[in-house]
Amino acid sequence: MIVTGAGGQLGQALLEAFPEAHGLMRADWDVTLPPPPDLETDLILHAAAWTNVDGAEDDPQSAAAVNVGGVQHAAELGAPLVVWSTDYVFDGRKRTRYLESDTPGPLSAYGRSKLHGESAAGEQAWIVRSSWLFGWSSHNFVRTMLRLGAERAEVAVVDDQRGSPTYVGHLAEATKAVLELPYGTYHVAAGGECTWAEFAEAIFEEAGLDTRVRRIKTAEFGARAPRPAYSVLRSERGAPELPHWREGLAECLARLKT
Ligand SMILES: NC(=O)c1ccc[n+]([C@@H]2O[C@H](COP(=O)([O-])OP(=O)(O)OC[C@H]3O[C@@H](n4cnc5c(N)ncnc54)[C@H](OP(=O)(O)O)[C@@H]3O)[C@@H](O)[C@H]2O)c1
Repeated sequence: MIVTGAGGQLGQALLEAFPEAHGLMRADWDVTLPPPPDLETDLILHAAAWTNVDGAEDDPQSAAAVNVGGVQHAAELGAPLVVWSTDYVFDGRKRTRYLESDTPGPLSAYGRSKLHGESAAGEQAWIVRSSWLFGWSSHNFVRTMLRLGAERAEVAVVDDQRGSPTYVGHLAEATKAVLELPYGTYHVAAGGECTWAEFAEAIFEEAGLDTRVRRIKTAEFGARAPRPAYSVLRSERGAPELPHWREGLAECLARLKT
């Protein structure tokens, strides 16, 4: 079993959940290139991806080389494959939870690259769509808020996007249950939902910081990539249910403390 993107936040969590797996970093295999000729495996947990959502607007070809070409190359190994995808494949116009049967309509270059990546995975694949990932390593919202919260009295955070912040430890563990299901697309995200501003408030509260959150609109924040206003994911296909995002946050902060 191999884990690609082993240095990423999900990749690291997967290596803990699947200690028998062999982790591959970008230096071991740049997934924009065909797999190394001597690489053989019975299962690929493909966590390597271009995850810079705003950067993909500036350089959509490079994002696609990783998120589409990389998945295609992983599929070429001929083994069953798990590919992680995103809530950003949806346009966010719905106001009830997105199910696997809902029609995607990505707003951003990143979302489009991930949707095309889903199609590149082939027949022997589980596509696991998740949302707003955070963990103890790599770039994520929790680590950014902890850094900003330590530096500032107030942080401006977007309050008109709703989703389910998902702890990578929970997602990695749930992958074991996904592997028991037939190949196909599954929505696997934390229980509960919130806005980024509510998430930031919870992070400061749990971390014991008295930083204030100033709630702003997406337009005021001015990110380059458009993002869905609502992207809560739920499963109608029997995918594993994850704990509430607040439980994930507590676990993540406890881990960051040690
Ligand atoms: N982050 C989120 O909020 C979120 C939400 C929903 C779904 N997802 C999906 O979940 C999966 C895991 O995301 P994550 O948050 O764990 O991302 P991450 O922390 O950014 O990790 C991605 C990993 O992929 C590696 N990588 C990038 N380009 C590569 C290449 N050409 N060849 C080999 N490795 C390469 C990176 O290596 P370097 O460190 O060398 O760049 C990094 O280790 C991705 O498929 C992502 O699209 C993420």
